[in-house]
Amino acid sequence: MNCVELEGLVKQATGLDSVTIGSSAIERAAQVRATACALDARSYLERVRTSAAELQALIEAVVVPETWFFRDPEAFGALCRMARERLQIHPGTMLRLLSLPCSTGEEPYSMAMALLDAGIPAQRFQIDAIDISAQALAHAERGVYRRNSFRGTDLGFRDRHFEATAQGHRLRDSVRQPVRFRQGNIFSAEMSPAAAYDGVFCRNLLIYFDRATQDRAVGVLRSLLAPEGTLFVGPSEPGLLMSHDFVSAKVPLAFAFHKAAADSKRAAAAAWPSQSRKPSAKPVARHTAMQPAPAPDPISSEQLLTDATSLADQGHLVEAARSCEEHLRKCGPSTQALHLMGLISAAVGNVSEARRYYRKALYLDQNHHDTLLHLGLLLEQQGDTAGAQILRNRLRRLDQGSVAI
Ligand SMILES: C[S@@+](CC[C@H](N)C(=O)[O-])C[C@H]1O[C@@H](n2cnc3c(N)ncnc32)[C@H](O)[C@@H]1O
Repeated sequence: MNCVELEGLVKQATGLDSVTIGSSAIERAAQVRATACALDARSYLERVRTSAAELQALIEAVVVPETWFFRDPEAFGALCRMARERLQIHPGTMLRLLSLPCSTGEEPYSMAMALLDAGIPAQRFQIDAIDISAQALAHAERGVYRRNSFRGTDLGFRDRHFEATAQGHRLRDSVRQPVRFRQGNIFSAEMSPAAAYDGVFCRNLLIYFDRATQDRAVGVLRSLLAPEGTLFVGPSEPGLLMSHDFVSAKVPLAFAFHKAAADSKRAAAAAWPSQSRKPSAKPVARHTAMQPAPAPDPISSEQLLTDATSLADQGHLVEAARSCEEHLRKCGPSTQALHLMGLISAAVGNVSEARRYYRKALYLDQNHHDTLLHLGLLLEQQGDTAGAQILRNRLRRLDQGSVAI
């Protein structure tokens, strides 16, 4: 089957580029659909040209609905921190969130679970979840999931928010209630909302577009996002945003961005990693008597840590680790660098290394908010609930301002 025209029709309707999704994938999908319609190649092309329903059926067969719960988990931690911050600044308001594309629902439901687990009640947020695929949305509305949607080792959320049934794990109503699904195309005119969103998850869609289409999509995302809002993209997509007047929110591995104009307003408070608590971006090294401090090179060593953070943001974990290790060699241990090494180690699945780095970071600063948070989550994942509880208690006291320094 000659698919060039079909590829053009799919691209015009969805933005999906045959170079990235593969001509053979489109050809296979067209063959399956032509057989289902009992049409030869030429008649099938004519059908797609003239029937919106058949074009949609072809799109359904072409899209890549790959997703799972808590994919790139750092994004959900960052969402919760952003939510708390915003609800604190604007009490009495409701947080408006968007998952586009939401595929079969794992992403928006993960957003809801993360927020509920962080103690944010369902009445304080609303999640719109949009996808072009009606089939994916039907799955999302059913809310029943099989093994492939649960990846990784931390599956505590499954016990808390699902019940096991013969068909798979069924999501509880408390998580479904704040999520509203609807079919939509990122490029359709109906995309403009009544009010902009505080947080937009647009992950693992832009990679399927060519450059011109990516530029259009980023324009849409910009218009959907409130001036101070946060945009989350997939690990391969940050580079595109940086070339579009977005700036990294500097949360390692969350792939989170702000509009550049808004960012300059928050610049004073925007030092990674615990923005509101530690405004100094400079790594603070503490050396023991046994270990004399190496002579630091302030400019290049600080730059190494900045580079490591931004490489980690962009998903270049090996390079990030290399930069961070070099920073540690030059400057000696600092909380920020050790915390970042912990995040990178956890992201590549080296849990024991991650624990080691987090412990070292806490040795230097026992009240380091994000390290307490991440080590606590790690311990919980590994079944050390008592250890996790100690860190959670410490965090709670820290949040209440009652931890001894
Ligand atoms: C790989 S999934 C990403 C799901 C989720 N955001 C994640 O990262 O796990 C890509 C989704 O994009 C949807 N999609 C493709 N083109 C779209 C468009 N033009 N508008 C809205 N959704 C689209 C597909 O239906 C598919 O469900």
